[in-house]
Amino acid sequence: MSARLLDGKGTAADIRSELVPRVAACTRRLGRPPTLGILLVGDDPASQVYVGTKSRAGAEIGLSVEVVSLPSTATLEAARQVVERFNASDDHDGILVQSPLPAALGPEAERALFDAIDPLKDVDGFHPANVGRLVQARPRFAPCTPAGILELLDRSGIELAGRRAVVIGRSQIVGKPVAMLLLHRHATVTICHSRTRELPAVAREAEILVAALGRPAFVTPEYVRPGATVVDVGINRVADAATIRDLLPADSPRLAAFAKRGALLIGDVHPAVADTAGAFTPVPGGVGPMTVAMLMVNTVRAAEIRLGVDG
Ligand code: GUN
Repeated sequence: MSARLLDGKGTAADIRSELVPRVAACTRRLGRPPTLGILLVGDDPASQVYVGTKSRAGAEIGLSVEVVSLPSTATLEAARQVVERFNASDDHDGILVQSPLPAALGPEAERALFDAIDPLKDVDGFHPANVGRLVQARPRFAPCTPAGILELLDRSGIELAGRRAVVIGRSQIVGKPVAMLLLHRHATVTICHSRTRELPAVAREAEILVAALGRPAFVTPEYVRPGATVVDVGINRVADAATIRDLLPADSPRLAAFAKRGALLIGDVHPAVADTAGAFTPVPGGVGPMTVAMLMVNTVRAAEIRLGVDG
C-alpha cells in the first residue's frame, strides 16, 4: 500500500472536541443542552446501529439526544406527528428522520417527512429550502456526509480549486450535494450514475474521486488515475466468505475479524485501489465518523441559530 490514508476517525474526534466549548456556551444560555430529536421507523439493523452511534457521540460532547422509535407497521401519519412534535417543541433544536424508511410507508414517505421538518431544525439539510440554499452557495445546514467529506479533504490539505472531481452516485443524500460543495470550491465536477457510458474512463479523469453508489468494492484500480484522492462513501455489510477472500489479501488482519464476526464492512472502493491512489479514506474509519461529527456540528449550529448567535 503506497497511498496516504485520510483519517476520518481522528479528524472526527478533533471536530467533536472543538465543539465542547460551543455546547457548554449554548447550554448556559438555553438552560438546557442543545437537543437533537431522532425519528427511527422500523427495524433496519444498520439504521439501528447508526442511530445508536449518533446518540452516543452526542452524549459524549454534552448534547441531549431523544430517539423516538416507531415499529415498521407505523403509519406515515404517526411518523409525521413525531416530526410535528419536534417542530413545535422549544426543547428540540435539531430533527433527523433516519433513512431508509420501511418500504410499507410508500415511495413518497421519505420526501413527505423531510418536507415536514422545520427548515431551521433540519440538521440533515434535506428540506427543499435548505437544498435551495446549498445550491445558491449559502448553506444553512449542509448534508452531513457531503459536509464531512469536504471537512476531511480540507483538514488533510487536499487542494480542490481547479481540480477535476468525479462523483459516482447521484443520491439526494450524498451524490448531488457533494458535487455542489465541490463545485463551490471551484473543482470541475462530473456526476456519474448507472447510465453513464465508459464509467471507468470517466472516473480515471478524476484527481478527486468520490464513490457513493452503494455497491461493495465496485471501484477497482482501472477506475483510478494514479495518485488520485479517492473518497469511499460506501458502507456495505458483506457476509459471504468467498467474496471476502477475493477482496482481501491472505495476510490481511481484517480476515481474523471476519472469522470472529461473520461479516465485514466493505466500502464501494476495492481494497486494491490503495496501490493506485495517492490518498484514500478507509472503511471503516473514513467518511462514516465524519458524517456523525458533522451531525453534531449542525445540531450545535441549530441551537446557535435559536439563540441568535448565528444565521
Ligand atoms: N441514512 C444514511 N445516511 C443518512 C443521513 O445522512 N441522514 C439520515 N437521516 N439518514 C441517513
